[in-house]
Amino acid sequence: MSHQGRVFLVEDEPAAVRVTQLALERAGFEVVACEDASSALRRFDEVHPDVVLADYLLPGLSGLELLRYVIRRAPDVPVVLITGHGSEKLAVEALKLGAYSYLPKPLDFEELALVLRRAVELKRLREESRQARLASVTEELVGRSQALAQVRQLIADIAPTEVTVLILGETGTGKELVARAIHRASRRARGRFVAVNCAAIPETLLEAELFGYVKGAFTGAEARREGKFVAASGGTLFLDEVGELPLSLQPKLLRALEEKEVTPLGSDRPVAVDVRLVAATNRDLEALVKEGRFRPDLYFRLNVVPIHLPPLRERREDIEPLVQYLLPRIAARHGKPIRDVQPELYAWLSAQDWPGNVRELENTLERLVVLSSDGVLRVPAGGGGLLHPFYEEKERVLAAFEKEYLRQALQMVQGNLAELSRRSGISPRHLYNLLRKHGLHQEKSE
Ligand SMILES: Nc1ncnc2c1ncn2[C@@H]1O[C@H](COP(=O)(O)OP(=O)(O)OP(=O)(O)O)[C@@H](O)[C@H]1O
Ligand SMILES: [Mg+2]
Repeated sequence: MSHQGRVFLVEDEPAAVRVTQLALERAGFEVVACEDASSALRRFDEVHPDVVLADYLLPGLSGLELLRYVIRRAPDVPVVLITGHGSEKLAVEALKLGAYSYLPKPLDFEELALVLRRAVELKRLREESRQARLASVTEELVGRSQALAQVRQLIADIAPTEVTVLILGETGTGKELVARAIHRASRRARGRFVAVNCAAIPETLLEAELFGYVKGAFTGAEARREGKFVAASGGTLFLDEVGELPLSLQPKLLRALEEKEVTPLGSDRPVAVDVRLVAATNRDLEALVKEGRFRPDLYFRLNVVPIHLPPLRERREDIEPLVQYLLPRIAARHGKPIRDVQPELYAWLSAQDWPGNVRELENTLERLVVLSSDGVLRVPAGGGGLLHPFYEEKERVLAAFEKEYLRQALQMVQGNLAELSRRSGISPRHLYNLLRKHGLHQEKSE
């Protein structure tokens, strides 16, 4: 007989178990029966069901609690509840929670088989789309380390949900890349991805930037402007460097998240917003909480699902695939074809500590490409020794200077790039490139 799928039957009445099992087996299902919800939880992983068929009223743990567990543990597995007399209201609640369907007692076995067949089909579709999500995330996030594989799986699992994600990792580990991958694998992919860098915008402007303002809210507010929350509505709001969010704004952000509405500056009318929040930081938020610089309630609200991106030096096996992925792109960008890579180069690259992580690796490769005159990439002269190669050291110090200069300048001109360009003498184009290089640019959306 054809295998229609494995049903996990959770029912405490032995007679009901017997007839249901018989009917389902005749219809081609495999049935594993269990008499109460707590043992069902214990056996869940081992049974590996395609669908759960549970009595609503069970001794001990209720069918509803079982449902909650399955949704968290195995969201692809549909749950069908069997309800007693007059429990329609409870059934509706179960549907709201995410049950696939409910059937009243006494069971109509033909109808039951039909519902279960559809449920098994749904599970197959859900699994397929999760595989597809995983494949697309895998393409973007290069690396062969176990740590990265876990990150990919986590992204594929949580992307379609609405949970808030907190991405933690040192500078250059790929936090923004992960945030975009989450957006693209989510149900909001067709909405906008709006990034706000909390460190790059002065405190006084950040509130208006996030929540918007109405005409006349402050001097200079000549027309109303929508904030990033509204701009990201229907999509994803990425709060980068959330650890730098001023204390004064934290309660307002919390309120926006809890109440799903924002009040623009100068207005007393809240506007409903529908955003999924993804936040990132290279700071130790827990330490900031202890120091009183980050509100614990906001921390807990953000830290629903944390994603840790380990530094590159803790996953050196990712370096080679990253180089293979990045090199052709960099070469194409500079119009310099690479004929060959000296074998020792991989060993040298793998031995570096990369405090700036993937971004630093990228910059180093870029330098090597630019410096190579014959299309062959080699270990830089003097590389590896205690004496840092002059040009690299110079580049490193310069980069640190650039970043600090831009950070301060941005504050002084309150984020006004035209003014910054005029006063600093940096051409607008070069300024844009510099801000990008240091992750200080304000990306509007994609
Ligand atoms: N696993 C990866 N595969 C491919 N590219 C990566 C990967 N990780 C990082 N990158 C690249 O490295 C660069 C830095 O990544 P990203 O900007 O996401 O880091 P970040 O953690 O946000 O850094 P910062 O804290 O400085 O803002 C980007 O160009 C990104 O595309
Ligand atoms: Mg970033």
